[in-house]
Amino acid sequence: MTKNNSYNLDNLLEESPFDLNNEEAYQRWREFKLCGYPLKIDTITQSIANPKQINLEEKSLILASCERYNFCIIKIDGGLAVKNDLKKVCRQLGLSQLDQNLCSDEESISKISDRKNSRLHNAYVPYSSKGLSWHTDGYYNSLDHTIRGMVLYCQSPAQSGGKNEFMDFDILYILLRDLNPDYIRALSAPDVMTIPANISDGKMIRPDQTGPVFSVDASTGHLHMRYSARKRNIAWREDLVTQEAVNAIENILNADSDYIISYIPRPGYAVVSNNCLHNRSRFTDSKSGDHNRVIYRARFYDRVS
Ligand SMILES: [Fe+2]
Repeated sequence: MTKNNSYNLDNLLEESPFDLNNEEAYQRWREFKLCGYPLKIDTITQSIANPKQINLEEKSLILASCERYNFCIIKIDGGLAVKNDLKKVCRQLGLSQLDQNLCSDEESISKISDRKNSRLHNAYVPYSSKGLSWHTDGYYNSLDHTIRGMVLYCQSPAQSGGKNEFMDFDILYILLRDLNPDYIRALSAPDVMTIPANISDGKMIRPDQTGPVFSVDASTGHLHMRYSARKRNIAWREDLVTQEAVNAIENILNADSDYIISYIPRPGYAVVSNNCLHNRSRFTDSKSGDHNRVIYRARFYDRVS
């Protein structure tokens, strides 16, 4: 292992690489993060033989991948009996505080599929076959319901399309800070991004949510990102630096890049992530119904740990 291939991530609170006045700490962390790329999907894929009891070796590899890349792909041999087993897998990876949202069921797990015939779901793009632009999950949540961890389990892929792309937001932070540290300052402002209230049939479902794009978790020192590339329904601060920073994010995410990982969901595979940036391409299900994209999603207030 080379020198820049190791970094003490337990030290984030004492010596924060996210302190814009501590260039030395930033450079050491930056080197560690970037030298993991280009990243092959096999490097971050780990098999689990028994989902009810992830063994120590499997677990340490999953945690190491999530520490280093903020995500991991797990292959669950034999697949899962979804609801209960998925929660058990998550719990073993430190993910226990489930977020309940409008479209999740009583188990707080959302079945993401094309549900065009459901009145509850058809107002929301995730529950359609349309593509989804870059975002982190729960960007419209209040700050005390921050989504730090997320699992996407594939029960069945689409007949075609439905590819996800992922990017570690730590990398996006680095690319932006290298361009201009003022972008980080602007995107860390507590009022930089506002998601207008969700009002349906005259009823307020969720109030306005204003908050930063980048924040640092006070208890762990880890970076968190809140973002959506949607043009509609996002109000950005109107100053010039913010506008430039938002354009810079779009340019980075829309470019061909070794830092963007493409992934087509496969049955029995799950993506475990510290709520990395991701998108989804449009998909087509089969007419017979036997190749319909079904993904189970669980969101957590915890990071993988
Ligand atoms: Fe998402």
